[in-house]
Amino acid sequence: MKSYKLFLLPGDGIGPEVMAQVERVMDWHAKAGVVRFEIEKGLVGGCAFDAHGAAISESDMALAQAADAVLFGAVGGPKWDGVPYEVRPEAGLLRLRKDMALFANLRPAICYPALAEASSLKRDLVEGLDLMIVRELTGGVYFGEPKEIRDLGNGQKRGIDTQVYDTFEIERIGRVAFELARKRSNKVTSSDKRNVMKSGVLWFETMNALHKREYPDVVLEHQLADALGMQLVRAPKQFDVIVTDNLFGDMLSDVASMLTGSLGMLPSASLGLADAKTGTRKALYEPVHGSAPDIAGKGVANPLAMIGSFSMALRYSFDLQDAANHLDAAIADVLASGLRTADIGGSASTQQMGDAVIGALQKAAG
Ligand code: IPM
Ligand code: MG
Repeated sequence: MKSYKLFLLPGDGIGPEVMAQVERVMDWHAKAGVVRFEIEKGLVGGCAFDAHGAAISESDMALAQAADAVLFGAVGGPKWDGVPYEVRPEAGLLRLRKDMALFANLRPAICYPALAEASSLKRDLVEGLDLMIVRELTGGVYFGEPKEIRDLGNGQKRGIDTQVYDTFEIERIGRVAFELARKRSNKVTSSDKRNVMKSGVLWFETMNALHKREYPDVVLEHQLADALGMQLVRAPKQFDVIVTDNLFGDMLSDVASMLTGSLGMLPSASLGLADAKTGTRKALYEPVHGSAPDIAGKGVANPLAMIGSFSMALRYSFDLQDAANHLDAAIADVLASGLRTADIGGSASTQQMGDAVIGALQKAAG
């Protein structure tokens, strides 16, 4: 049985609660002889600030860099509202993304038939939905310089963020989107705001050139980011793969989450470039939802997005397609059985959901 190094960063709020269920799922995989993990744990976000005065320590950064994959829970909460900007909880996540060069963020939005009723949209609009948002994750306005609040000296200040993209950044995220589309329904929708932004003009031109040069077999469409937001809630099933920048991807993936019934359902994978020699890539897996301080510690958080993120790790980091399919099927079985946490209209506990996923895995394994 193969063994991989996993680094777990449960973080704050509901992070540790949902991570605990994934650890049980990992144990099941080891006992079932599927795959084994050497697990280390670290601190990120508010808990890291409390322990070290930083959103992530240097030693935990080194462990993240050395791991075969990182599993990340969630960060933040009202307790840390007043901490300096540089060490706010989110800074830990942003540093992981940037330092590990995790430029490709894959956010699938799948509407399980059993959950179509939990969506804020009508059943026929979302039932069977299966789209993938490919969000650029290490560039754009999140990291562009200058990024500051400047004192203008006349009682006025100026807040500045910089939206910036280079050709290579657009090409490499475009390739991820086109490659994924080839394995899915062969269609990419690229989204920008070229009607007001120069970075959007470059995004559009670069995607078109890449398409023509390397992926003429894939269908490429463009939608302005505002229109895409509207289309996502009007007719979401028109999409297969959506590729967009860091900020638009952040917003659009939150919108997409409600199509699936709950933010508690959406997993994500953040990937680096594949190493030319070994084919392996740096990777971090995290649920799209946040730390949900309002329900933290109550044992009622939905662990499915975190468990789904582990399934993405099986798929994208360890190439265990069967194991990932089995785990996804177990999640679907649990939902079909009617078991629900509060976010999707039920009263099951986090632990009960974990039990049920493991039960479904066990049953399928015979
Ligand atoms: C996300 C989150 C993060 C982001 C925050 C926590 C910094 O909203 O992963 O979507 O804006 O990227
Ligand atoms: Mg977000």
